Amino acid sequence: MPLDLSVQLAPRHRQGLLLANPVMTASGTFGYGTEYSQVFDIQKLGAIVCKGTTLEPREGNPQPRLYETASGMLNSIGLQNIGVKALIREKAPLWAGWQMPVIVNIAGETVDDYARLAGELDGVAGISGIEVNISCPNIRAGGAAFGARPGPAAEVTTAVREATSLPLLVKLTPNTSDIARVALAVAEAGADAVSLINSLEGMAIDIARRRPVLGNITGGLSGPAIKPLALSMVYQVSGAVTLPVIGCGGITSAIDALEFIMAGASAVQVGSATFSNPRASLDVLEGIEEFMEKEGINKISELIGAARC
Ligand SMILES: Cc1cc2nc3c(=O)[nH]c(=O)nc-3n(C[C@H](O)[C@H](O)[C@H](O)COP(=O)(O)O)c2cc1C
Repeated sequence: MPLDLSVQLAPRHRQGLLLANPVMTASGTFGYGTEYSQVFDIQKLGAIVCKGTTLEPREGNPQPRLYETASGMLNSIGLQNIGVKALIREKAPLWAGWQMPVIVNIAGETVDDYARLAGELDGVAGISGIEVNISCPNIRAGGAAFGARPGPAAEVTTAVREATSLPLLVKLTPNTSDIARVALAVAEAGADAVSLINSLEGMAIDIARRRPVLGNITGGLSGPAIKPLALSMVYQVSGAVTLPVIGCGGITSAIDALEFIMAGASAVQVGSATFSNPRASLDVLEGIEEFMEKEGINKISELIGAARC
């Protein structure tokens, strides 16, 4: 019997957001998808989430913006991107010819920014969903400030929900004291799914210069170092909401991805791993398929939440 890896990420939504498999790419680590189509057949993936997009183009934060840490990396890119108008003009027409859904990650400094972005993307061919980034640790205003508390997180979600008919994923920050409460608030405000986690705020110091390494002083920590934390948050959130949960944080292998799925994630996003292995997301997918074949499991749904007690 052929394997069924399909997952529905927006069961409450009119059109839904059906993925052929649960392996996605994480925003900011896979460009606009086009960059990687030379490396492997990206159409095999479940979905792509593109770079965080703002109303106007952004040049990002001062250099240096990347630093390798023990089992991870710090980044302070600061949402460098081409802006929503160029994205609609230059990228969406390419995506419209793809069979795999593309989700646009959006970020703003005010609630109105988010609503305007969602409005601009509504009905654009080639865009299958929106991921609302209320969790970016690298911009001064907005970003993670919205994601840290249930009230502001719900306010952004409500505004975006009213501005678009597209399926809505809300990306949560780990830089909060109670991520499950934030997840519940955005679920109630109209999110179709939640994705977690974004990077954790961190820093490094250059002792020779006696200065922070990153031009922005702090940055977002990602990679294997954050996996146990991300996994525990996915477990918590999956127990709190009935919406699909998308797990992200330090996934480099199929084993990592299966851990997130067994913790309750319906899908996973591969992020920093792509920098050291550009095929990482495809390797994760192939490894999941091998595991299912070896274990005699036909449907991925049998594994979702399998480790929950
Ligand atoms: C260089 C870089 C850029 C990122 N840019 C974004 C972004 O624009 N929007 C967003 O929501 N997350 C962004 N992220 C966060 C990732 O999507 C992901 O949530 C985080 O890195 C944790 O996953 P990982 O450990 O697999 O990398 C970025 C991460 C990195 C490393």
